[in-house]
Amino acid sequence: MALPFSASILMVLVALLGATTTSSTMPTSSSSIVEEERAFLQSKWWSSGHNISLRCKWYGIVCNDAGSIIKIFLSNYHYQPSPPELQAMNWTAFPNLVSLDLSGIYLQGAIPENIGALVKLTHLNISNNNLKGKLPLTITNLTRLVMLDVSFNSISGQIPEHIGNLKNLLTLNMRSNNFSGSIPTSFSLLSNLIYMQLSSNFLIGEIPPELGKLKNLTWLDLSYNRLTGPLPPTLVEIGNMASLKSLELHCVFGKVESEERQTKNGDLFSIWNYDGKIAYEDIIQATEDFDIRYCIGTGAYGSVYRAQLPNGKIVALKKLHRLESQEPSFDRSFRNEVKMLTEIRHKYIVKLYGFCLHNRSMFLVFEYMDRGSLLWVLSNDDEAQELNWSKRVNIIKGIANALSYMHHDCTSTFLHRDISSSNVLLNSELEAFVSDFGTARILDPDSSNQTLLVGTIGYVAPELACTLSVTEKCDVYSFGVVALETIMGKHPGDLISSLRNSGAPNMLLKDVLDSRLPLPFNGTDAKNLVLVVTLAFSCLDTNPRCRPTMKDVVKEFLVSKPQLLLPFNDILIQQLLNQESIFQK
Ligand SMILES: *[C@@H]1O[C@H](CO)[C@@H](O)[C@H](O)[C@H]1NC(C)=O
Ligand SMILES: *[C@@H]1O[C@H](CO)[C@@H](O)[C@H](O)[C@H]1NC(C)=O
Ligand SMILES: *[C@@H]1O[C@H](CO)[C@@H](O)[C@H](O)[C@H]1NC(C)=O
Ligand SMILES: *[C@@H]1O[C@H](CO)[C@@H](O)[C@H](O)[C@H]1NC(C)=O
Ligand SMILES: *[C@@H]1O[C@H](CO)[C@@H](O)[C@H](O)[C@H]1NC(C)=O
Ligand SMILES: *[C@@H]1O[C@H](CO)[C@@H](O)[C@H](O)[C@H]1NC(C)=O
Ligand SMILES: *[C@@H]1O[C@H](CO)[C@@H](O)[C@H](O)[C@H]1NC(C)=O
Ligand SMILES: *[C@@H]1O[C@H](CO)[C@@H](O)[C@H](O)[C@H]1NC(C)=O
Ligand SMILES: *[C@@H]1O[C@H](CO)[C@@H](O)[C@H](O)[C@H]1NC(C)=O
Ligand SMILES: *[C@@H]1O[C@H](CO)[C@@H](O)[C@H](O)[C@H]1NC(C)=O
Repeated sequence: MALPFSASILMVLVALLGATTTSSTMPTSSSSIVEEERAFLQSKWWSSGHNISLRCKWYGIVCNDAGSIIKIFLSNYHYQPSPPELQAMNWTAFPNLVSLDLSGIYLQGAIPENIGALVKLTHLNISNNNLKGKLPLTITNLTRLVMLDVSFNSISGQIPEHIGNLKNLLTLNMRSNNFSGSIPTSFSLLSNLIYMQLSSNFLIGEIPPELGKLKNLTWLDLSYNRLTGPLPPTLVEIGNMASLKSLELHCVFGKVESEERQTKNGDLFSIWNYDGKIAYEDIIQATEDFDIRYCIGTGAYGSVYRAQLPNGKIVALKKLHRLESQEPSFDRSFRNEVKMLTEIRHKYIVKLYGFCLHNRSMFLVFEYMDRGSLLWVLSNDDEAQELNWSKRVNIIKGIANALSYMHHDCTSTFLHRDISSSNVLLNSELEAFVSDFGTARILDPDSSNQTLLVGTIGYVAPELACTLSVTEKCDVYSFGVVALETIMGKHPGDLISSLRNSGAPNMLLKDVLDSRLPLPFNGTDAKNLVLVVTLAFSCLDTNPRCRPTMKDVVKEFLVSKPQLLLPFNDILIQQLLNQESIFQK
């Protein structure tokens, strides 16, 4: 008889994790709890050497106050000596279970019908196992499910026709299984769905046009299947699925079927694996195969093209040239940009619509920004005049919000590492969008923060030059530079060095402002400009620890400021540098 948990391991885990349970120590003796105990004993998932009435304290188990199990999480648990079977557990006995995570524990066998009895379940993750057989139809009884992840198994057969019953689903991942048959049209009932991943299966038939109804979908991946027929217009129209940030295109170069299945582990080459010529060829046609006439700019690497799709939508394409794509560092930046932009989404961060990462054609599809970069607009006298003070302040606030989100509101800390006026794009309303995530990275608390020097000269924080130690405060510094540049109309390099050398005595604030705009009266614009310069100076502190966080900056912008103490024209740079309060008490 196999007792998967070795006693000693379990004891240690109990000791370590006992405190995470929310159970009462006195299990109530209702009949359902007796059934739970029996199911546990019969399953042999846990060693019988343990006192079953203490199971609420075991590793991976959370109970409610009545002592009934509400959560089981054994993700990546290393079972010894043999992995368990899902069928060994009598799931009917867990009427209160809300969350079940059995991912990555080498589960064997089929998914039992009685999984459908877990009617309170909201999260089910049985990904990364060796599950075989069909997905039982009873799974569609789990109508409270918010997340269903069965990816990376060998589940075969059709996707249940009534999958559309799971109306609360936000995340559905069926990637890398042996699902066959067609995509059920009832998917279109999953109106809250945000993430849908069906790639690497054996699905056939056409893509149901009804998928276009999934307005909240931000990620749709049907690649590496055997789908046929045209891409439904409902999906091609990017605007129709307004949230979709990853409409992945398929790069078709002849027969690529066999090589596709090998690229299972995250090679981002293909997207629409139905014979997706239309989407790909739309891009090729719209740009006449990336003809120079459609090129609107060239960056450190690659070129940017403007493409009008048949539906009228205009997109920007960033394409790596043939030789560049063989350069590992460019290739890495490109892939990095895809990774970052699929993980972070913000009103003031440029949207990625899709990508094609094949070694013969590498391009990214972005939201098109009519007005080009902040650098460009500031360097053009007519455009710069259109950018009045309130718009410039809004641009600075937009950048601050985007950075604060990246640094503080994501699951990890994302660093941009190359904030500059050429990486801030403006739309037709002259709103700012942070772009260019080729060098962005996650600040990893477990690995060294030492890094290669990246970024744009003139925006890089001074400490990076000597220590190469990267923190979010490097972005804060670059933000300070861009903020000053935005209101001065030119790069503040000279001002910054004269501040460092002499402290700039007697220099008036009004004299550093962009002279192409009339001076602000001492109203809202004046107050905002004083605030921007004060904050920018603190962001430019040579000591990274003395710089504010982007969250602090955003907070300052939200506080409404009282009147200025002095007439605007009399305010000295020195006063703002000393962080003297220029506002009335
Ligand atoms: C199991 O734990 C319960 C509650 O702490 C206790 O009353 C009981 O005596 C224990 N049983 C054994 C066999 O240790
Ligand atoms: C499974 O649990 C249910 C409800 O607790 C119970 O009625 C049923 O007899 C159990 N089945 C088996 C095979 O133990
Ligand atoms: C399911 O579990 C796997 C492995 O633990 C994890 O990588 C994945 O993110 C989980 N799925 C969801 C949707 O959270
Ligand atoms: C659960 O699903 C099965 C198959 O779809 C169905 O026959 C059954 O009636 C459902 N049970 C409940 C309680 O809804
Ligand atoms: C799943 O598909 C793979 C690839 O074709 C095949 O090797 C494997 O035998 C299939 N497994 C099952 C359970 O059908
Ligand atoms: C989509 O998302 C929005 C905003 O998060 C939410 O209010 C709405 O209920 C969601 N569902 C549908 C069907 O629009
Ligand atoms: C491009 O991909 C093909 C097949 O996927 C491969 O044979 C070739 O070596 C690759 N070329 C480069 C430069 O990586
Ligand atoms: C700035 O420009 C916008 C539109 O171009 C206008 O609505 C706004 O009133 C202007 N602000 C000032 C202070 O002139
Ligand atoms: C990296 O930086 C973060 C944030 O400043 C810090 O929490 C972490 O300890 C640093 N990691 C190392 C290895 O220094
Ligand atoms: C506004 O500025 C003018 C001249 O710069 C000054 O005379 C006036 O007192 C100021 N008004 C306020 C309310 O500060």
